[in-house]
Amino acid sequence: MSELIDYVDTSREMFKKELIEFLRIPSISTDFSYKEGIRKAAQFLLAKLEMLNLDRAELFETDGNPIVYGELTTDPSRPTVLVYGHYDVQPPDPLDLWETRPFEPTVRDGDIYARGASDDKGQLFTHIKALESYLASGTPFPVNIKFIFEGEEEIGSPHLVPFIESHEELLACDMILISDTAMFARNTPSITYGLRGLAYMEVEVVGPNRDLHSGVYGGAVENPANVLAGIIAQLKNDEGVVQIPGFYDEVQELSGEDRDAYNKLPFDETAYRKKLGLNALHGEKGYSTLERATARPTLDVNGLWSGYQGEGAKTVLPSKAGAKISMRLVPGQNHRTIAKLFRKHVESLAPDTVTVTVTEHHGGHPAVTDLSFYGLKAAARAFEEVYDKEPLFTREGGSIPIVADFQRLLGAQSILMGFGLNSDAIHSPNEKFALKDFYRGIQTSAKFFTFLP
Ligand code: BES
Ligand code: MN
Ligand code: MN
Repeated sequence: MSELIDYVDTSREMFKKELIEFLRIPSISTDFSYKEGIRKAAQFLLAKLEMLNLDRAELFETDGNPIVYGELTTDPSRPTVLVYGHYDVQPPDPLDLWETRPFEPTVRDGDIYARGASDDKGQLFTHIKALESYLASGTPFPVNIKFIFEGEEEIGSPHLVPFIESHEELLACDMILISDTAMFARNTPSITYGLRGLAYMEVEVVGPNRDLHSGVYGGAVENPANVLAGIIAQLKNDEGVVQIPGFYDEVQELSGEDRDAYNKLPFDETAYRKKLGLNALHGEKGYSTLERATARPTLDVNGLWSGYQGEGAKTVLPSKAGAKISMRLVPGQNHRTIAKLFRKHVESLAPDTVTVTVTEHHGGHPAVTDLSFYGLKAAARAFEEVYDKEPLFTREGGSIPIVADFQRLLGAQSILMGFGLNSDAIHSPNEKFALKDFYRGIQTSAKFFTFLP
């Protein structure tokens, strides 16, 4: 074990260099023109796995982006851990808000800045380097391991679900290990046992067959932007309660125990508010901020457009208006059912003066890991040794839809061992990852494998 930890400690510079190389690759999955970056990132990971001389390392083509797979069997009587991560990243825009360029990784004050640094390249890389540390230091690897890295997480994993369905045997495992979440706070490790689901919708309202002069036609013709604003205004009331009939029907309410656990978390609401530059927070009555952000379902406009957006004033009655609207879901809710309820409700609010079209984008089911799952104990012990602090057990508001699919298709629970921070600015300009947590992540991963019974 000491050789192993020595190897991790003395290899820091090398690990950092490799991570920088990985972060240079613009593997943006939402934008088809980055196909080459996607392939390069997949090849990069494949090469890292090949370097370890595993039993198997290969790239699986799909109708979308490639899946990178690796496997090492040590002893079939020992548990098998399937490590999941995603090598695709979000688009970096708005580019002008980055202090240094998104695909030119830069270290400042111990943080590495780049798109994907925390979500998820830096985090997934910890597990590859943990395994490398065993193998290179001659420490017997105590379990069996499989790796699966996809390049479509940020677009809803459209090809991973069919891949799992057709490769159940290949992916058979006792648990899934994922580092793609955040710690509760700096130096406060946490294990995430719940993630929200997602239903992502788009609404388009079409009125007249062209943009009109708002003086010549205004008052006689329905305005799609006004209609859309009206519809959106009816989706949630002033107290943050979603107004779609049936929306809360299947929601599993927090138990008294859950709420006690929430109340014990060291959460500083004033600091949270101030960091966001807000005068006041807002949300559903009767729930705390943490509960609202992680354990309650919600609805938010993600994008909204219509009419004239340029400088100055142009008098126009727009022909069209549109909105992208996401709903975060909690255990009990089914994203397909919620999408249907949304559609039905929005259609019922539409006046016959316009045409309202509702389309469904990707979605995902919420997920919870059973707190009594034995894998969590090994993870907690690993965190405790490395961070010198017992980890908290928390739920998070973001979504990793594949977690519920893994549970359903492989019957395996996920251990969400996040090394990121909520202040990492994932999906935002100046995304970063603390190098200290990158190294501690490698150590935590390494220890986790030893602590599995
Ligand atoms: N890693 C995030 C999810 C996440 C972030 C979970 C922070 C917990 C804390 C993941 O890459 C992500 O961005 N997921 C998307 C959903 C996906 C279907 C596009 C999300 O949550 O918006
Ligand atoms: Mn992610
Ligand atoms: Mn993401």
